[in-house]
Amino acid sequence: MAVALVVAAGRGERLGASGPKAFVTVAGRPLLEWSLDALRAAPSIASVVVAVPPGVEYPGAVAGGEHRSASVRNALASASAGADDVVLVHDAARPLLTVQLVEACVAGLAGFDAVVAAAPVTDTIKEAGADRVVRRTLDRSALWAVQTPQVFRRDVLARALAQEDAVLAAATDDAGLVEALGGHVGVVPAPRENLKVTTPLDLRVAELLLRERGA
Ligand code: C5P
Repeated sequence: MAVALVVAAGRGERLGASGPKAFVTVAGRPLLEWSLDALRAAPSIASVVVAVPPGVEYPGAVAGGEHRSASVRNALASASAGADDVVLVHDAARPLLTVQLVEACVAGLAGFDAVVAAAPVTDTIKEAGADRVVRRTLDRSALWAVQTPQVFRRDVLARALAQEDAVLAAATDDAGLVEALGGHVGVVPAPRENLKVTTPLDLRVAELLLRERGA
């Protein structure tokens, strides 16, 4: 059994909403509630800890931090140790999470320090300088667009989050912090549908997909 940490403490400035992103209404409910449903229904999840923006009242939640990793660290600090010490981290910004993906990620941890849900990249990805001059085209067949859930051995995640604050502040995911320490990280194939709501367009797509699912 694993404990799940849901980070919902972002301000969501790119969405342009008036309040925190996790509480924006999508398909009739706060964004956060959709992924909580999937986690609560998943057989491998024993308990869930949510990190919300400081000052926001939410039952049983803890206050998030200045950056994403600080929110994960705060949530981990109040998560009870599970029987096999496995921790799943999920962004509240991904409301299309399914029980099936949660179970695949938890099962996928065997033999790794951490695993990440990820979808094969469908666009061609080029690297360019600030001058917009292309430096190179990456080999798409080896590229994955990384999502959450990300699942960790608890000791590995705790060590990753103990790195200095500048390292944590620059991280866009937790598995990257494990990689920085030389950890063995694996990929669990996931559907592109498990999208992250960042912009108003993402919110419209998520709304359509969630309504379709409920129909
Ligand atoms: O900014 P981005 O969309 O990548 O954020 C990913 C997730 O991290 C979101 O679910 C957001 O709520 C969370 N987050 C957080 N605490 C912060 C910043 C982001 O919990 N300080």
